Amino acid sequence: MKKVVLITGASKGIGKALAEKMLNENFFVIGTSRNRKIKNFEHQNFYSLRLDLSNTESIEKAHKEIFKNFKQIDLLINNAGIGPDLDTYIPEKESFNLTFDVNVAGTVFFTEPLIELIKERGIILNVSSKMGSLNVCELTDSIAYRMSKSALNMYTKILTNRLKDKIKVASIHPGWVKTTIIESNLKNGRLTPQQSANNIFEFLTNEFESGTFWNSENGTELLW
Ligand SMILES: NC(=O)c1ccc[n+]([C@@H]2O[C@H](COP(=O)([O-])OP(=O)(O)OC[C@H]3O[C@@H](n4cnc5c(N)ncnc54)[C@H](OP(=O)(O)O)[C@@H]3O)[C@@H](O)[C@H]2O)c1
Repeated sequence: MKKVVLITGASKGIGKALAEKMLNENFFVIGTSRNRKIKNFEHQNFYSLRLDLSNTESIEKAHKEIFKNFKQIDLLINNAGIGPDLDTYIPEKESFNLTFDVNVAGTVFFTEPLIELIKERGIILNVSSKMGSLNVCELTDSIAYRMSKSALNMYTKILTNRLKDKIKVASIHPGWVKTTIIESNLKNGRLTPQQSANNIFEFLTNEFESGTFWNSENGTELLW
């Protein structure tokens, strides 16, 4: 039987490249997006799921659909994330709240009921960012985005403690990737989404210690 991976934010960028990579590696992929339609993307082993992490009702509907259609999930990749305040310096309430709604609260409340569906020795991978590392932060930009990824890292730690010996949990930095999370990334990003997806896949196939934070670009562990 094929292993099942659930990837949030599979409509573009890193999530879409990851969905393509996992399909090529013979996984069954459940991929989420807000409008359920993913351009030029059809595959017999791909299940498209509507999910808006900023909306409680949408999260509940997604749970119902998952529990109705799937008995077990091997891997949950919490990839969906936004950065409306990337490269800005003064916090602004609306984008701050939206960032936390999606990157933190939405991710947590989407994950919680799914834990019982995740197979013994399965994996939860939270797509975080080096920008959320407290240890290496020397800059002053992107307040909500950085804080949201620090908070996500704390969730990684808490899940690790709770799920000890049952499910492996990690945070990963996908590299600086050419996506539209912010327009300038298309020009300045170092990696294509496909390169980032390959690195993340390689990370997943290696043994890693639960409760760790990794830079998938160079395969090294990051400080929290
Ligand atoms: N690109 C980088 O250099 C970089 C670096 C470090 C970390 N990251 C992290 O990598 C992850 C993927 O980023 P990306 O660069 O691939 O971004 P992206 O191209 O903008 O893709 C973001 C994905 O998140 C989904 N999404 C957006 N709002 C959502 C919501 N309210 N509810 C559910 N899904 C939502 C989008 O789907 P729809 O819009 O179709 O719903 C899309 O599939 C993020 O967590 C990001 O923080 C990226």
